[in-house]
Amino acid sequence: MSAIGSDAFEKAYDLSLSDPSRFWDSVAKEITWYKSPRKILDTSDAPHGRWFVDGELNTCYNALDRHIEVGRGEQTALIYDSPVTSTKKKYSFLELRDQTALFAGVLTKFGVEKGDRVIIYMPMVPETLIAMLACARIGAIHGVVFGGFASNELAVRIDDAKPKLVVSASCGIEVDRIIPYMPLLNNAIELAEHKPPSVIVFQRDELEAELSSGRDWDWEAVMARADPVDCVRLKSTDPLYILYTSGTTGVPKGVVRDNGGHAVALNWTMKAIYDVEVGDVFWAASDVGWVVGHSYIVYGPLLKGCATVLFEGKPIGTPDAGAFWRVISEYKVKSFFTAPTAFRAIKKEDPDASLLRSYDLNDFKILFLAGERTDPDTLRWAEEKLEKPVVDHWWQTETGWSIAANCAGLGLLPIKPGSPTKPAPGWRLDVLIEKCESLPSGKVGALCGKLPMPPGSMVTLWNAPQRFFESYFAEFPGYYKTADAGFIDQDGYVFVMSRTDDIINVAGHRLSTGGMEEVLASHPDVAECAVIGVADQIKGQLPVGLLVLKTGAGKKVFEIIEECVQLVRDRIGPVAAFKKAAVVSCLPKTRSGKILRGTMQKIADNEEFRLPATIEDPETLKEIDEVLTQMGLSKARK
Ligand code: COA
Ligand code: AMP
Repeated sequence: MSAIGSDAFEKAYDLSLSDPSRFWDSVAKEITWYKSPRKILDTSDAPHGRWFVDGELNTCYNALDRHIEVGRGEQTALIYDSPVTSTKKKYSFLELRDQTALFAGVLTKFGVEKGDRVIIYMPMVPETLIAMLACARIGAIHGVVFGGFASNELAVRIDDAKPKLVVSASCGIEVDRIIPYMPLLNNAIELAEHKPPSVIVFQRDELEAELSSGRDWDWEAVMARADPVDCVRLKSTDPLYILYTSGTTGVPKGVVRDNGGHAVALNWTMKAIYDVEVGDVFWAASDVGWVVGHSYIVYGPLLKGCATVLFEGKPIGTPDAGAFWRVISEYKVKSFFTAPTAFRAIKKEDPDASLLRSYDLNDFKILFLAGERTDPDTLRWAEEKLEKPVVDHWWQTETGWSIAANCAGLGLLPIKPGSPTKPAPGWRLDVLIEKCESLPSGKVGALCGKLPMPPGSMVTLWNAPQRFFESYFAEFPGYYKTADAGFIDQDGYVFVMSRTDDIINVAGHRLSTGGMEEVLASHPDVAECAVIGVADQIKGQLPVGLLVLKTGAGKKVFEIIEECVQLVRDRIGPVAAFKKAAVVSCLPKTRSGKILRGTMQKIADNEEFRLPATIEDPETLKEIDEVLTQMGLSKARK
């Protein structure tokens, strides 16, 4: 450890590595178990490290019932604030538990049992949390699908998870646009081979959905006939949820999280990382469809006994760039978590943060940013305007919580712009190159975590154990490969630079360029294509498509481009933000036929690049440069 540290952090960090079982055993005592675990870590089936293997618990009990049993039933558990519907509503732990127990009763009546899957395709409404927690209550495995995905993506997830039931809503609301969900869901079920027998639909006032008789059921009606159901005893290793995330192909990875490790780790992070106590108000401005939403809108804060804020709005436009300050001030939020892109959007709209002056942020202590690297400009702007510490932390859907963070509850360390600070307790990070060779400080390589992964990390990929092994553990035996490249400096601070695969990060959303290429390649006039992520001032990155057309393509170029843009929107969804494409005569490749995506991205971003020695025809890059310039990228940026 370097000179930069805090006693509490160093003590926790050192113990977590020297004696992980002792460290996590003591942390696990903050969770209520039906049967306390004796075997803390089982590595006999490496790379699967299984935590608290003989323990028994229920995650929903820990998130709701146990707080009621110690007399905190009247305390606020959930604050729903929806500027898009002009609704504000609070639920106490008692109210949230009662609604959850009732919906668990609904699930049971529909024949959902422990181990069955339930797909939840819902907007940011309290019923989404209730459905998730109700699954946890009876040991059903939820798979929440983000509302911004199109039918095809939903269909792929339905076919993989094979749910017994789908829970959905009549619509979502995007600022002032109503998104009807049922046509998307109906189309997904049409496309999927697996036909879920039942769908429960939460009807919203903004739009009433037409229900298919025999398959669809109205949320209110089934709740009115249900009896509450109690928590079931689950093994620590029983799955809690599947969360699909982008992989390097169009087929998403179903990250599986267990009950025990997840509850222990998330509960611990609330104090250790976010520095909140029981009864504090915590807000993660994300969407429940992403891992940030799972971990820090739903499970983390409720496990800890905090009030969590569910915000159905945007950083700007609902109604203005002061929305975040209003919510923080109105509910006395202590710790707030969002993505840097949200702050860049606010900064563009209100560069002086003049709207901030109308609000009292005295109770607000720390801002946490993740989802993408916090660029130093955004960091400085946020620090200066808020006059509070701004903490970048790095994690992934796979890890469920921070790999590197400035652990505020263990003593805030000095902040270095561009760095998410140091590896979190439980993570021994190395920077590796081929053959597991470890690089010295300052050198860029693959950021890898020495096994075992700490509790709360994924335990496998649903239906894909071989892919689980090959994606994460095959290249660097004994390590988890994060697929992020970066370095660690002489003080032990981590710097995350870029992905090592074809994942791009658009407005904090993880997207696969390979997935987009698969869609573009299906257009009848496209012979070949490449999608690259180019730098964008607000969203961090935006996808740009380069298309080579088949000879004799009958249509006009602009028509084909329009169709390609629509195709990605229809197949992947609006969240892909795929709006720019251009036609080129050929793509730059190496002599072995590998498309030079990285070089094209550097040209688009006006970064220096070295001409690969193996390039087949250097002239192809000239055309790419010209085309990108015409699109307002490359030289046009200078
Ligand atoms: N349902 C349907 N459509 C959705 C959707 C949902 N749940 N979420 C987003 N979309 C649509 C948007 O309406 C937009 O459509 P458009 O192309 O027709 O305008 C498109 O998907 C892209 O959405 P988004 O990336 O959110 O862009 P935006 O321009 O609407 O907003 C930001 C930009 C920066 C304000 C917004 O991305 C934001 O607040 N990001 C916070 C980051 C975040 O939550 N990250 C999660 C990890 S922490
Ligand atoms: P997701 O699985 O959607 O949470 O996306 C995870 C990816 O987002 C990581 O692998 C990183 O590439 C990127 N990411 C998340 N947080 C950070 C951060 N603080 N700094 C740099 N990159 C980040």
